[in-house]
Amino acid sequence: MSGNIKLEICDHADGVARQAAAALAGVIRSRSETVLGLATGSTPEATYAELARMHRDEGLGFAGVTSFNLDEYWGLGGDHDQSYRHFMTDRLFRHVDILPWNTHVLNGRARFPELECRSFEDRILSAGGVDLWLLGIGGNGHIAFNEPGSPVDSRTRLVSLTQETIDANSDGRFFSDAAEVPRCALSAGIGTIREARSIVLLATGDKKADAVAAAVEGPFTEDCPASLLQDHPDCTFIIDAGAASKLASR
Ligand code: F6R
Repeated sequence: MSGNIKLEICDHADGVARQAAAALAGVIRSRSETVLGLATGSTPEATYAELARMHRDEGLGFAGVTSFNLDEYWGLGGDHDQSYRHFMTDRLFRHVDILPWNTHVLNGRARFPELECRSFEDRILSAGGVDLWLLGIGGNGHIAFNEPGSPVDSRTRLVSLTQETIDANSDGRFFSDAAEVPRCALSAGIGTIREARSIVLLATGDKKADAVAAAVEGPFTEDCPASLLQDHPDCTFIIDAGAASKLASR
């Protein structure tokens, strides 16, 4: 399938951050209450820095924002410095006026993971669904921690990470040793993500070029989880020249 995915290609990664922040700010400004889905990882860091700047310099308000994060390492509490709760607090939440109780990050130390995952889905429904979900993409095409083979209708659940993902996250940017990386995570499912009213996926650097080309121009297949966004009615990939470099159609 060559799907509906819209492409915005920027020369450099800083352009990706500006475009992505502008897309998020547009949704936030267009309504009094906004539900955002958020991602962690290296790629959105500059976007969060730009949103923090817009809050500081342009008065972009987050008091009406409710957020849901894609995933959390299983076994890490929010006070662990590699937890995604910590990442979000450090990169975004503490810089803006979002209300802490409106920020939903899965609890990686929940006693009952199934209950935690069901409650996460219920909280998304109670909030009225996600207006815009921001995503990154793994080198193997994963979105959130939905590794290749994850079903298109998967929901939030406990998943195992592939060795490739463990290695990618222990290259010194986050963990410095693969042995420290948790083997499992709680992750929103592909079905959960696909229900967002709009989706913006960010990719920078030529390490992501194969995954981006497979997602946009390859078949609709669970082998490349990001390709399962092809039939979404409002999905945009904002990518830099490196990440776009293997697209035939660019
Ligand atoms: C993060 C997440 C992951 C990352 C992906 C890319 O919440 O769900 O899917 O988006 O692994 O990570 P970076 O941006 O570090 O290359």
